[in-house]
Amino acid sequence: MASEPTAPNRQPPFYVDGVPPEWSGLNHLALVTTDMDRTVRFWHGVMGAPLVATVATDDFRHYFFDVGGSCVAFFEYHGLDAETVAKPAGVPDSRFFQFDHLSLNLPDEAAVHELKTRLEASGTEVTDVVDHGFLRSIYFTDPNGVAMEASWWTSDPTSGRSSTHHFADPDPVPAVQEIISGELKPVATLLVDGPTTDIEDIWTTAGVDA
Ligand SMILES: [Fe+2]
Repeated sequence: MASEPTAPNRQPPFYVDGVPPEWSGLNHLALVTTDMDRTVRFWHGVMGAPLVATVATDDFRHYFFDVGGSCVAFFEYHGLDAETVAKPAGVPDSRFFQFDHLSLNLPDEAAVHELKTRLEASGTEVTDVVDHGFLRSIYFTDPNGVAMEASWWTSDPTSGRSSTHHFADPDPVPAVQEIISGELKPVATLLVDGPTTDIEDIWTTAGVDA
């Protein structure tokens, strides 16, 4: 069962502001598949994202695809009678709460067009290039119904290159104003007790450090 994050006697302390972590991209984004074989054929074969690691236990397979120094990984849980769903990127759907779509980065517009051609050659449906201003993208769907996007920054806001034109919400949430004023009040969260406690046991069984 999930713990109750708002229970008064379990209120977490605010973390102490200090030297931020040296983030270096995604390690892996873990998604779920009901058909790992089809997933390998699409991600390795069509997407050209090499399968670089596989893990298996009695309960699941867990495969990793390299998307340029970061991985997209999939779990295939054995005996899970899961309902599969799919939706386009950026379209509200009550079945989806935590995850909307996955956008992979490409270096320039030519690379976006080359991927579009590659997808179409495999029979995969893909949109035209959509211009979002500082981002241009194509959209498609992976075999698991994961809404996919491939994008290139026409004006890259990462690695300290963000400027005022990247902040296009005319009425942002209060936290944004607090960032600007240098007075952001952070929030903290608690573990989901039961499942999180089980993680070490699961990975010990798999022979891999959690
Ligand atoms: Fe997106």
